[in-house]
Amino acid sequence: MKWQPLFAERTTQMRRSTVRELLKVTAQPGMISFAGGIPAPELFPVPEVAQAAANVLQRRGEQALQYGETEGVAELRDWIAARFSRAHFQVRPENVMIVTGSQQALDLIGKVFLNAGDRVLVENPTYLAMLSAWRPMMPAFVPLPSDTDGLCVDALSPLLRAGAKLIYLVPNFQNPQGITLSLPRRRQLLECINGRRLVPSDVAQTFLSAGSGDIPVPCSKLLATGKRATTSHKPQTIIIEDNPYGELRYSGDPLPHLLELDAANGAGGELETCVIHLGTFSKVLIPGLRVGWVIAPAEVIDKLVQAKQAADLHTSTLCQHVILELIRNGVLERQIPRLREAYGLRRDTMLSALAAHFPDGTTWTRPDGGMFLLVTLPPHIEIGFLLKRALARNVAFVPGDDFHLDGQGRNTLRLNFSNATPERIEEGVKRLGGVLVEMLRTG
Ligand SMILES: Cc1ncc(COP(=O)(O)O)c(C=O)c1O
Repeated sequence: MKWQPLFAERTTQMRRSTVRELLKVTAQPGMISFAGGIPAPELFPVPEVAQAAANVLQRRGEQALQYGETEGVAELRDWIAARFSRAHFQVRPENVMIVTGSQQALDLIGKVFLNAGDRVLVENPTYLAMLSAWRPMMPAFVPLPSDTDGLCVDALSPLLRAGAKLIYLVPNFQNPQGITLSLPRRRQLLECINGRRLVPSDVAQTFLSAGSGDIPVPCSKLLATGKRATTSHKPQTIIIEDNPYGELRYSGDPLPHLLELDAANGAGGELETCVIHLGTFSKVLIPGLRVGWVIAPAEVIDKLVQAKQAADLHTSTLCQHVILELIRNGVLERQIPRLREAYGLRRDTMLSALAAHFPDGTTWTRPDGGMFLLVTLPPHIEIGFLLKRALARNVAFVPGDDFHLDGQGRNTLRLNFSNATPERIEEGVKRLGGVLVEMLRTG
């Protein structure tokens, strides 16, 4: 059988992820891996998870092993709705859908919103697996520049005027750069998308009292119907706020979510916002259960539910119940500060090791949280060769060019600092610095 001609055209946009392929190599014993966005396994609350699973099976076994609602387990949705509600707006359970990791949310959003040719604005570099999820929909990705304050919002206005269906961003400790969108930029972004100024202290009031021409178009009006929404209202662009790392802050003050800055309740209490917010238990608890969530206006959730029904019916009921039990037992609230302390130390260790062992002419970002930083090397360094030499010395990293859209980033590398212990971070950075110095010396 000749399979190649039988694959659908969209599969030409699919390729294996460099990161996931590299993870196979990094699983080898002795390897110091700075490659994946992988939590520290020794910090997983294994006994607590075992206890939670036993409790669930004992107390709610029949329910937890049964098929469930596509939207997710009601108590978990309630908890997320309460956690994200603020004084000026309420998130209701119908605004929440549980997904099989936030990666599934990206996949479903691509299916529900993107037509071929739709313009999608993304930070450059950006999250690789979002590109993998959306490429088969054949959108036109438009790269946006960023600096130490995150996305350069000034670059946005002309691009928005030309039309854009989505803007995707990771505002906190971005993957791969580790940078965070500053509060002024968050406000500026929303002003830009909403087409008018927001007064931070009375966001809710502004929305509630706005005249008809001034009310943001709910993102439900932008579903992939095959034609663009015909409305003169603004905005026409949805913000996808992907926030897997927000709770993992090690320095600086926490910043409000874009959802929080933008959302309000309409007359009937429904959530109105141009932001679709994605979250996950992967980085703050455990990734193996594959439980994440989406917060959006109910009309959008309804469409995402339709897409999810076709994808997997629902996220594992057992996994959702175990997560819920871990929340009820206080494990999540204990785990977050524990991770902040451990990963904060690992970040500091990596930053000091880079300063000590990396040659002049290299620079790197200084994240306030998350799991990554991005190193920029002198332009003539051949990153593929560096990776080969590093792997030979049992150190792995991810070349940065895959995260870039425009062929840039060939002299960058992403380093993860959450997975290896501080001792191994020091050793791995030393080895990597040694390889680099050697390469620079020999030209
Ligand atoms: C920016 C970003 N979004 C989404 C995800 C997917 O996370 P999940 O495990 O919830 O699918 C990751 C995982 O690395 C990520 O870095």
